[in-house]
Amino acid sequence: MSEANGRMLQDYWADLLLVAEEAALAVLPHIGRGDKEAADQAAVDGMHHAFRGLPLSARVVIGEGEMDEAPMLFIGEELGRGGIKCDIAVDPLEGTGLTAYAQDGAMTVLSAGPADSLLHAPDIYMEKICAGPAAAGRLHIDVPLSENVKVLAAALHKKPGQLVAGVLDRPRHASAIAELRTLGVAVRLLSAGDVGPAVATCLPGGGVDLVVGTGGAPEGVLAACAVRALGGAFCGRLRPESDQERTRLKEMFGEDAERPLQLEDIVRSDDVVFAATSVTDSVCGPAPQRQDGGVWLSSLAIAGGKVRRVRRFVAIAEG
Ligand code: FBP
Repeated sequence: MSEANGRMLQDYWADLLLVAEEAALAVLPHIGRGDKEAADQAAVDGMHHAFRGLPLSARVVIGEGEMDEAPMLFIGEELGRGGIKCDIAVDPLEGTGLTAYAQDGAMTVLSAGPADSLLHAPDIYMEKICAGPAAAGRLHIDVPLSENVKVLAAALHKKPGQLVAGVLDRPRHASAIAELRTLGVAVRLLSAGDVGPAVATCLPGGGVDLVVGTGGAPEGVLAACAVRALGGAFCGRLRPESDQERTRLKEMFGEDAERPLQLEDIVRSDDVVFAATSVTDSVCGPAPQRQDGGVWLSSLAIAGGKVRRVRRFVAIAEG
């Protein structure tokens, strides 16, 4: 258990949410402007700045890259002004293209767990399967998709035809999408952003029962934190695409680096926090709405089995 002055990490959810909010504020001028790099950089700057005031001794385990390639939020960077020790995973802007083109699903995201509790996933792909608490511990990455669908439908007391699966719209998922449709499952095609739908599987009325497919490994860890905090189901497998990535993985995780990863392998504590703020309409709520000298932000904080939806008005100086 991680504790500082009798407080667990999950008690810091409001502090961590400020970081997601500041990043979203920084992105505001970039929504719909067609420049995803600029939007991403603004989120990184905002997030990095916000960490300065936090009463945490945080270490970035999933960030913007290695120290020599990222000046801010690099892997190993120490953040916060001191306090409870924790691992931090950040995706300052989940959905850079969604932001640049003002499409649904973009948000600023971070997760935190006690020191040494989060998988240090490199920036490669991860095969993922994710669902809500009814299926906890019952989905497996190495069984046929049809079997996972059957298990999930039974757990939810639904027919496969009543299920909705979120899948990234990529050629690599063509056969999974076809199979899901053959099974009668409705497929929500995602142009980008698989973190929000993964979190939604664990939220009542989230509109998605299952997320399957291959996406970013860092995004997998971020989503797994929310899933773990809510007792959901998540299973993954790191998917290197080149010899270089394969070698790096072996150096990091040994010969069985490509083994199935259970939720407990990815997030090794229940004392985790997931914090995210909408940049466009997302699982966190509506996109930021400007009003009389400020903006309404919609956020989601998940910690200690609780989901908190926070809507906050932040004053901003108009430029
Ligand atoms: P951005 O980098 O544009 O924010 O995209 C994020 C994301 O869509 C993740 O949600 C997803 O896991 C991954 O990229 C998918 O990667 P790819 O676009 O290479 O299929």
